[in-house]
Amino acid sequence: MSSVLEKIQACVQAVRQVTGFAPESAVVLGSGLGGFAERIQVEAQVPYASLPGFPVSTVAGHAGRFLFGYVEGKPVAVMQGRVHYYEGYSMEQVVLPIRVLRALGARELLLTNAAGGVGPGLAPGCLMLLTGHIASFVPSPLIGPNEEALGPRFPDMSEVYDHSLRERAKAAAAELGIELKEGVYLQTTGPNYETPEEIKLYRLLGADAVGMSTACEAMAARHMGMNVCGISVVTNLAAGLGGKPLSHEEVQEVADRVGGQFQELVWRYLARGGCA
Ligand code: HPA
Repeated sequence: MSSVLEKIQACVQAVRQVTGFAPESAVVLGSGLGGFAERIQVEAQVPYASLPGFPVSTVAGHAGRFLFGYVEGKPVAVMQGRVHYYEGYSMEQVVLPIRVLRALGARELLLTNAAGGVGPGLAPGCLMLLTGHIASFVPSPLIGPNEEALGPRFPDMSEVYDHSLRERAKAAAAELGIELKEGVYLQTTGPNYETPEEIKLYRLLGADAVGMSTACEAMAARHMGMNVCGISVVTNLAAGLGGKPLSHEEVQEVADRVGGQFQELVWRYLARGGCA
């Protein structure tokens, strides 16, 4: 058996020693969404550190665990914390959690993140539904021997963000009276923020928001045939657009400020699961 499949299986076995919970969908909580975990009816929790070979965030104080539980009766797996390529993990390691979630049963995936606003109208505090992504500036997580058991060698990426899940997100936002913008997400490696010149380039290429996660996870999920949805919270104007230096503190502060609304949206979206 290949090492990727072995790694997935070792993690699944470790989770199965704690819980037999079978999630239908999974959600990765980005910045500002940590509090979402408190709302779900938790059946089991599994710290990432207890899983063999599982990537653990190098950022001090970051909760890293799976929560398994129910959102209005819908069985979901929640990732509280994720790792990023800039931490020094390989792309294969970065997407291992997504592969484990699929192996645990999840067929749908909601990816959330904080991002810088590049496109017009994407001001700090906006929520943006991903219509597509540009991942050309990061290595593909699918590089390496292909696991046919996971998916094909040359997977199609013409609709990474599933149309019916996008409709579900829009319906959830409408129900809550929350404005949900739409746009294209561009992933960079980070950890540095971009230069104003890079942001001009990304705008020319069609990016509406820029961030350091998500597209690679979405690709790994699509490889396995999962249906994917993505939502960004715009925490700042991208470099050169706001006339001031960017800081992690500002990103965190805005993510926390919008977190309540973002949580409501994610909750309603998950609660509507199965009726898209
Ligand atoms: N650039 C990259 N990643 C980010 C940004 C940004 O401006 N804001 C939040 N995450």
